[in-house]
Amino acid sequence: MILSVNIDHIATIRQARLGVDPDPVMAATLAILGGAEGITLHLREDRRHVSDRDLNVLRQVITTNLNLEMAATPEMIAIALELKPDMVTLVPEKREELTTEGGLDVSSHFDKLKDAIKQLQEAGIAVSLFINPTAQDIDISLDTGTNMVEIHTGLYANARGKNIDLEINRIITSAKRAVALGLIANAGHGLNYQNIKPIASIKSISGLYIGHGIISRAVMIGMKEAVSQMKTLMLEK
Ligand code: PXP
Repeated sequence: MILSVNIDHIATIRQARLGVDPDPVMAATLAILGGAEGITLHLREDRRHVSDRDLNVLRQVITTNLNLEMAATPEMIAIALELKPDMVTLVPEKREELTTEGGLDVSSHFDKLKDAIKQLQEAGIAVSLFINPTAQDIDISLDTGTNMVEIHTGLYANARGKNIDLEINRIITSAKRAVALGLIANAGHGLNYQNIKPIASIKSISGLYIGHGIISRAVMIGMKEAVSQMKTLMLEK
């Protein structure tokens, strides 16, 4: 099972000062050094965190697997066709949302998705659809021509009590169905150090896409060392 680390939040911190630090490109190379097989970034229409420059530089630096999350809009498709990430994950995008809120409405946007997938695949880019864990959405995804789906684990991550098992079972059933139909099944959203184990043990899942949990942990485990380095500089004669 591979891990692709989403570095959007590093860009979010940088954008708090509209400067150059911290650089998501540097974070991406450190993630690869840490064992990640791939890097994910979401270029949003409003460019609220990741910039076109980030995508450009990451395309040159990441030689394992660069996964571009994007909406299936003409602007984003043109960017992907030009920069050729290894993989594109099509996601729904709303300006007012804090993060991607759910899987694609594959039924309503069927024609648009099918057309986007065809264009991207013809350019040699692998395409994944971010979908909710339902049999219907898996079946419709297959008909779009994609060969890969990312199952939304957000409801599982937010579930409490007996709903946790219910959500795990939905993810297991969906992943198995996707694989039985010949699709590659990935998963992601809301995964962290507390809830990862049951998902990481699902045999049908090929890859996990994780951002917030890892970046949050990185900030915390780096805090002590960062303060210590500042104190050392302050006290140096
Ligand atoms: N997968 C998709 C499609 C996403 O949109 C996101 C968030 O950008 C993730 C995975 C990662 O989610 P999280 O940041 O909660 O780990």
